Amino acid sequence: MIGNFTLEQFQETVDVIRGQTPYSPRIGIILGSGLGALAEEVQEADNLPYAELPHWPVSTVDGHSGRLVIGKLEGHTLVVMQGRAHYYEGYAMDHVCLPVRVMQLLGVETLFITNAAGGVNPSFVPGDLMLITDHVNLIGMGGLSPLRGTNVDSLGPRFPDMMDCYDRQLRSVAIQAGAKLGLGLQEGVYVCLAGPNFETPADLRFLQTIGADAVGMSTVPEAIVARHGGTRVLGFSGISNKANLDGNTPTNHEEVLLAGAEIAPKLLSLIREVLRMIRR
Ligand code: HPA
Repeated sequence: MIGNFTLEQFQETVDVIRGQTPYSPRIGIILGSGLGALAEEVQEADNLPYAELPHWPVSTVDGHSGRLVIGKLEGHTLVVMQGRAHYYEGYAMDHVCLPVRVMQLLGVETLFITNAAGGVNPSFVPGDLMLITDHVNLIGMGGLSPLRGTNVDSLGPRFPDMMDCYDRQLRSVAIQAGAKLGLGLQEGVYVCLAGPNFETPADLRFLQTIGADAVGMSTVPEAIVARHGGTRVLGFSGISNKANLDGNTPTNHEEVLLAGAEIAPKLLSLIREVLRMIRR
């Protein structure tokens, strides 16, 4: 549960990465549970196992491979995180988000964050893709902010604004891309809980009341750190299961991974199309 990293520690990780790849990525992609396949599409890739990167939080969860893939996709130089660590694994919030800080220091200006999520909106079905329009930071409201601690002013402001957390312009590009591909892209609000248990039916009724469309255990802390550092964020949830609103439908990690296999190709084509559309 290490927390409160220093700029020097972030820089140590950056230096190790720079020593292992000549690329200067401008786009970062974080791949969620069961969504790792996209990393295989990166061309001329350098693969850096997380275990070899100082301070890097290594995921212990099935469906999270644990390596950085740095290379080219659709004319962009990008860094893909094939797997991520979560708060419930025992890492402090700023440790979970250390990769975002490192990506920022590497020069990443735009971050695509993906996750597997439970569908709270009753019109969502497993296999749907949801564009994240906004989030409710329920764990952050409870005090678990990745920005807690001394603010490093060179990284971002003490009190960052979160109005356009999920970049308006990128969202509009994603909607156009989804329409072009005929994906039936859903849109909605993602709520982040600490996990690792799934929700009770009462939890889910509460989440529905506060405006949740999807629920998961990641993404929001990373998005907050990204915005703190001025990085533009685009977020996608792969709806892996219908959250158990009726009280009779158990949820398990296997179905999350299974749905990931269905969602991954759609997500890949969507991300590829967005990348083509934002090529400069
Ligand atoms: N709840 C929370 N997190 C999740 C779920 C869920 O139903 N599905 C995938 N991640």
